[in-house]
Amino acid sequence: MKIKFIILFITIGFFSCSDADKNVLEVKSPDSKIAVNFNIDNEGKPFYKVKFNNNIVVDTSYLGFEFKDVPALNENFIIKNTSTSIFNETWRMPWGEQLDVADNYTELKIELQEETSPERFLNIVFKVYDDGVGFRYEFPEQSRLRGDVFITEEHTEFNLKEDYKTFWIPGDWDIYEHLYNTTNLSEIDALQFANHNDLAQTYIPENAVNTPVTMVGSDGVHLSFHEAALIDYSGMTLKVDTKNLNLKSNLVGSENVDYKVKRTVPFNTPWRTIQITDNAPDLVESNLIVNLNEPNKLGDVSWFKPMKYTGVWWEMHLGKSSWDYGMEMIDDEWVDTGKAHGKHGATTENVKEFIDFSAKNNIGGVLVEGWNTGWERWIGFEDREGVFDFVTTYPDYDIDEVVRYGKEKGVDIIMHHETSAATETYEKQLDTAYALMKKYGMHAVKSGYVGKILPKGEYHHGQYMVNQYNKAAIKAAEYEVAVNAHEPIKATGLRRTYPNIISREGLRGQEFNAWASDGGNPPEHLPIVAFTRMLSGPIDFTPGIFNIKFDEYKKDNQVNTTLAQQLALYVVIYSPVQMAADLVEHYEANPEPLQFIKDVGVDWERTKVLNGEVGDYVTIARKERETGNWFVGGISDENSRVLELEFSFLDDNQTYEAIIYKDGKNAHWNDNPLDIKIEKIDIKKDSKLTVKLAEGGGFAISLKKT
Ligand code: NOJ
Ligand code: CA
Repeated sequence: MKIKFIILFITIGFFSCSDADKNVLEVKSPDSKIAVNFNIDNEGKPFYKVKFNNNIVVDTSYLGFEFKDVPALNENFIIKNTSTSIFNETWRMPWGEQLDVADNYTELKIELQEETSPERFLNIVFKVYDDGVGFRYEFPEQSRLRGDVFITEEHTEFNLKEDYKTFWIPGDWDIYEHLYNTTNLSEIDALQFANHNDLAQTYIPENAVNTPVTMVGSDGVHLSFHEAALIDYSGMTLKVDTKNLNLKSNLVGSENVDYKVKRTVPFNTPWRTIQITDNAPDLVESNLIVNLNEPNKLGDVSWFKPMKYTGVWWEMHLGKSSWDYGMEMIDDEWVDTGKAHGKHGATTENVKEFIDFSAKNNIGGVLVEGWNTGWERWIGFEDREGVFDFVTTYPDYDIDEVVRYGKEKGVDIIMHHETSAATETYEKQLDTAYALMKKYGMHAVKSGYVGKILPKGEYHHGQYMVNQYNKAAIKAAEYEVAVNAHEPIKATGLRRTYPNIISREGLRGQEFNAWASDGGNPPEHLPIVAFTRMLSGPIDFTPGIFNIKFDEYKKDNQVNTTLAQQLALYVVIYSPVQMAADLVEHYEANPEPLQFIKDVGVDWERTKVLNGEVGDYVTIARKERETGNWFVGGISDENSRVLELEFSFLDDNQTYEAIIYKDGKNAHWNDNPLDIKIEKIDIKKDSKLTVKLAEGGGFAISLKKT
């Protein structure tokens, strides 16, 4: 329901606004805690401010654009018209962290026009929610700005008032797989990360950060900056002015053109977002990003079922097996010269083992990486176009038989498309590749974009690639295929509009623990991720490593958490596809903790964040759709801590059989990661529980209705 009413119809003359605050427009969130002020200054420059509980959190921040060939659009404006409206509706997630989402905001639309020639129009729309603010620019149809526009920079400012404690990764145009840093805003130094041993590609041209970037103030205010509905535009990094505590949009560019975004008028930009709460848990419960996206355009997507999956995957990262088979490319053809090295992972036999294990353990899918020809010329090769195809199997992988066997056992095969960032090759093959999947009844693909983008000069997060990722997802939907991209574009809530965009990487995932030269993800990694990257959408982190040290494969690498924390991640880190990433033999040797993976849900009716502090710890409870069972997960950083849990979220008059998987007395992520204690008790709504989390530890609880 959208109620629209015009609060003001003003034509503010250039001279009438000599007192900048006189004609200020204000719009407040439904609960009145957040207020946005908008005005233009003496030079006709548009600016806004944001208040939270009557305190300014974003001070005078200017807005505008620069273009190639035409004058900038950032001053000399008059306000032609303004309107506000209230919207309050509930929509349903086909799969997700919750079933029903309240979409409740107040909108302010400002129609600006340049006072003198060329008298162009620009609209700015603010939507103010109880959990934050979104605003975007709208370029309406007009005679003085027509056809294609070439944006060289968007000048959106976020002028902050405090030297916030900031959780950030560098504004890399190519990759999100950096560790998070915790510093004051004034101490951000992204350029120190310009070179990184473990990243396939990295480009950090400015002292900027990628989003979501999360900040905590001395009075407890929590802010997170990001964007929503990134469509046909470049990703936005935020340039940091450490002296003036100011963030400014810096769009990802391309070496191939002299602009950053090309659009045809009329068009709208993505939403610029600020999530604002007075505590950390509310940030995680915020639905601002999905709410700012358009409703579902695909209709019924029940062909995709949220699921747990295993796969031919961790064994390659450990070096137990390989993606490639050992073929040679002769005259543009892959040839089996009979010199195969014998370490190939994706064999019919191996995949069948994963199918058997999955069928036994309530796991719905098996991912198979390294099934198709081309892996011999993957990482490190300049010329990657035309190398992979997405229909030709290696000689030891019988796809017909694997799919048949999976069907017999009730297990789906998850397709894998490593594009190696050779975008032209992939784009040409989208139809063929997805048609093959359709033929086999495969409804999910994990795609990958490792390496420098081809064509050379493009970056993973520029407009060219935004369009590649979105095109692939929209095309996939035509074939009833759901997409889980790695090395993806950032999540901006598009899963609401295209619910076949199910999950993605876009962070330092579990794989780094297998091979990173810096010792892997430190224990604080995921307690930061939960309040940063996870605010943007589902994460394919691939949890569940039981053989934490894996010395038999890699002496110098390990997972830096306890086993109990690996279980907790199934609840804490949200994704509708959740991998049980370890090797079958490591699970079979540990049937008791495996029980949690077997039981845990993947599709939720409700999510409740019970406690947490950014970078320290977090506990999340989720109620499974259909069964009504609850699952709770809690994780800690490098510090041990005691948490008091309450269960007021449970149903009235209902007893739940709880299995608690917690760190043992001597558990420690490094000294004793496998020490786990499992106990069964009954829990009710008024129960209380004290849990101790080890250093790098965690706990998981399943609560089944008795
Ligand atoms: C990087 C992905 O993150 C990883 O999961 C995958 O195994 C490799 N690329 C190969 O595609
Ligand atoms: Ca990756």
